[in-house]
Amino acid sequence: MTISNPYANRRFMRAFDKLWSRFEGFVNRFTKSDFNPFYHLGTLTVYFLIVLIVTGTYLTIFYRPGSDVAFATVEKISSNWLGSLMRGVHRYASDGMIVLIILHFFKMMFSDRYWGSRWLAWTSGWIMLAATWLTGTMGYWLIWDQRAQWMTEYMMNTVAGSEGLTYISPSLASNTFSNFVIILFLHVFLPLIGFLGIYIHVLRLSRARWWSPRWVSIQATIGLILLAVIKPVSSALPADLSTLVSSAPMDAFYLGFLPLIDQMGNWIFWGLAIFVGGGFFLLPWVASGRDLGPALVTDSKCTGCVLCFNECPYDAIRMVDRHDETKYHKLAIVNPAQCTGCGICVGACPTDAIDLKGGYNGNQTFSAVRGALKREKETGQPVTVLFASQRNEALDGLPKSLLAEKNHGPVSTSPWGESRVVTAVLPSESAVNIEWIKTLHHEGARDVVILSHPYDDSLYREDTHWITNRLRLRPALLTSDIHLLEVTPGDSTAVSTLLDDLNRPGFQANKKAPVLPETKDRSKKAPSFVSSLASVILLTLLFATALPLDIPAGMVEANESALRIAIDMKGKISTPRIPEGVVLPEGADAAKIFGGERFPVSVRVTADGKTIFEETYSPSGLSGEGRISNLEFLPVDTGTHQIEILLKDDDNDFRTVYSGQVEIAKAQVLLFTYDERSDTFSVR
Ligand code: HEM
Ligand code: SF4
Ligand code: SF4
Repeated sequence: MTISNPYANRRFMRAFDKLWSRFEGFVNRFTKSDFNPFYHLGTLTVYFLIVLIVTGTYLTIFYRPGSDVAFATVEKISSNWLGSLMRGVHRYASDGMIVLIILHFFKMMFSDRYWGSRWLAWTSGWIMLAATWLTGTMGYWLIWDQRAQWMTEYMMNTVAGSEGLTYISPSLASNTFSNFVIILFLHVFLPLIGFLGIYIHVLRLSRARWWSPRWVSIQATIGLILLAVIKPVSSALPADLSTLVSSAPMDAFYLGFLPLIDQMGNWIFWGLAIFVGGGFFLLPWVASGRDLGPALVTDSKCTGCVLCFNECPYDAIRMVDRHDETKYHKLAIVNPAQCTGCGICVGACPTDAIDLKGGYNGNQTFSAVRGALKREKETGQPVTVLFASQRNEALDGLPKSLLAEKNHGPVSTSPWGESRVVTAVLPSESAVNIEWIKTLHHEGARDVVILSHPYDDSLYREDTHWITNRLRLRPALLTSDIHLLEVTPGDSTAVSTLLDDLNRPGFQANKKAPVLPETKDRSKKAPSFVSSLASVILLTLLFATALPLDIPAGMVEANESALRIAIDMKGKISTPRIPEGVVLPEGADAAKIFGGERFPVSVRVTADGKTIFEETYSPSGLSGEGRISNLEFLPVDTGTHQIEILLKDDDNDFRTVYSGQVEIAKAQVLLFTYDERSDTFSVR
C-alpha cells in the first residue's frame, strides 16, 4: 500500500509555499516563531478594521460634508497634531489593511487552503477585499481634492452621464450635498457590516481566532504611528471641475485604477479586472485539489467520548444521541462537506473508530510503524521513530535519505549514522495517537520524535495545539525519550541536527523531557526587545509600501485642455400622442396638450472647422417622450479655437446654435451649457 501525499501533488503551489515558508523562517530568526507577525495576517486585518473605525470616528466628528466645506474641514483636522496623527494612522491603516489582506490571501492560496470546505472563507474573503477597496476609494472622495475630482470626472464621463450635470451646476454645493452624505454613510456603514462579513468568513472554523495577539497589535500600532509622524498625510489640490487634474498622488492600492484606465481604456481594464478577479474568486472550483478526507466513523467502535468533536478545527463533527444495542449514549457524525481531511480526529480517537476515506488509517499506519521498528531492531542498532506531517514532506522539510526506502504505506526506514530511523508521514502531526508513544517505548524505540510546526502556523489551524495538548494531559509520557521538535516547514537541517545529536552518547546521557509550548494566554506573552524591534521594523516597512505607491498622475497630457458640453433639453415632438376618442378643437396644439414622442437630438462640435464630436441622443422614457441629458468631455489642445456647435432636433438640417472664438488655458475645462429658451450655448 502506498499512501499518497495529496499536499505534495500540487507542485506549482508548493513552489510558492516553500518560498513563503522560507521567508517566514527568515523572520523567525529575528522574532522567534512565537512572535512572527506574519502568522497573524487574518487577525491583524480584523485589528486594522478596528483601528480604522476608531480613527474614522474621530475624523467624522470634525468632518463636514459638502463640496464647499469638505476640503477645508479636512485641512483643519490636519492642522493640529492630534488630527494629523489620526488622519495619518487612518490613511496608513487603510493601505496596511489592503497589504495584509493580499498577504493573507497569498498565504491561504499557497498553502492550498481555498478549496473544499474552505470555499466559504475564500469567497467571503474576496467580497471583503472588494468591500475594503470600495470603502477606501469612498474615503478619498470625501476629501474633495483633485483625487476626488478625478473619480467624479470618471463617473461623469463613464457611468452616469446625466448625473454628472449636478456637478457642473452653479449651485454645486447644494446640488451635491446629498451625494456627500450618501458616500459618508457608506464609508462608515460598510466597515461596520464588515464584522458580519468576518463572522461568515470564519463560520466553518471551530474556535475561530478573531483577535490578534496583544503584542502584534501593539507593534502594528507603533508602525502606523511612526509612519503618520514621519510622513504626515496631506490632501491634493482642492477639486475644481473647471480645470483638469494636473498631478495628484494616486494611492495605487485604491486609486490606481484611474491612471490605468486612462492608459488602457475602460474595456481592457475592467475586462482584465473581471477576468483576473473572477478567476481568483472561482479558484475553489476552477482548481480544486484532493485531500485524504472526509473522515469516516465506524459506529460500532465509537464510544461517544467526544474527543474528536472537541479537537476538530473545522467544526465538522457533531455528537448525536444513539439508541442502539451498544451501551453508549452518543455517536460522532462527520459532515463531509466541512471536513478538510486533516486527520486530527484520527489521532484523537482512543478506539481507532475514525479513518480517512482517501486512504489514511491510523491503526494500519501504526501497525506498519511497529513492524518497521521490530525489523530495524533486529539490526542491533538503536532505533528512532520520527513522525512528520505531509506538509513537512511536501516542503522538503525532511532529509531526503529518510524517505529513500519506502517501507509500508507512509512509513520509511533508513540508516542514520550508527542508528536506524523509522519515519512515518501523517496528514498532520496531530494524527499521532498519544497511546502510540507508550507502545513504541515498550517495544524498544530509543527515541520518538514528533516534528511540529510553529504553534501559529498550522496547515489545519490547530495541528500543533492538539498534539501539545494531548502530551500535556499525559505527563507520564513526557520522558526524555520523546522530542517535540518545532521546525519551520521546509527546514530539514533542524531535523538532521536532532538526529545527529541523538546519536551522540553525551546528548543521550543529558537529554531532557520536552518543554511544551504554552497553549493558554498566548496573546499575553511578551516578546524580547530584539524580537519587538524586528517586528516593528518589518511591519513599518510593510505598511510603508504605500509611500512609493502614492504615484503622481494626472489627466493632463502635454498641451491638453478640454471642452465640456452639457445638454439638458426636451427635443421637439415628432408624433403627438392624442388619447383614443379625444377630438380636439380646431387650432389646438395636440403636442402641447398631450405631449408625445420626440425627435432624437444630434449635436456636432467643430473646432477650427474640423468636426471633433458628433453624437445623436435618443429621448429618454419608454415611449421616447422624455428629456435628453448628457455631458460630454472633449479634449482639445490649449490655445485659441473657433468653436461651432450645431444642433439638429427635428426634420430639418443642423443649425448653428453657437459660434465663437475661445481661448483655453492649459488644463482649463471650458463648459458649454445649452439653454433651451435662447436656443444657444453659454460658455463658462
Ligand atoms: C477583510 C478581510 C479579511 C479578514 C478580516 C480575514 C480574517 C480572517 C481570520 C480572522 C481568519 C481565521 C483564522 C483562524 O482562526 O484560523 C481567516 C481565515 C481564512 N481566510 Fe481570511 N480574512 C480576510 C480576507 C481573506 C481573503 C481575501 C481570503 C482569500 C481570498 C481569505 C481566505 C481565508 C481562508 C481560506 C481562511 C481559512 C483558513 C483555514 O481554513 O485554515 N481571507 N481570515
Ligand atoms: S479529518 Fe479533520 S476536519 Fe475532518 S472531521 Fe476529522 S478533525 Fe475534522
Ligand atoms: S473520538 Fe472516537 S470514540 Fe470518541 S466520539 Fe470520536 S469517534 Fe467516537
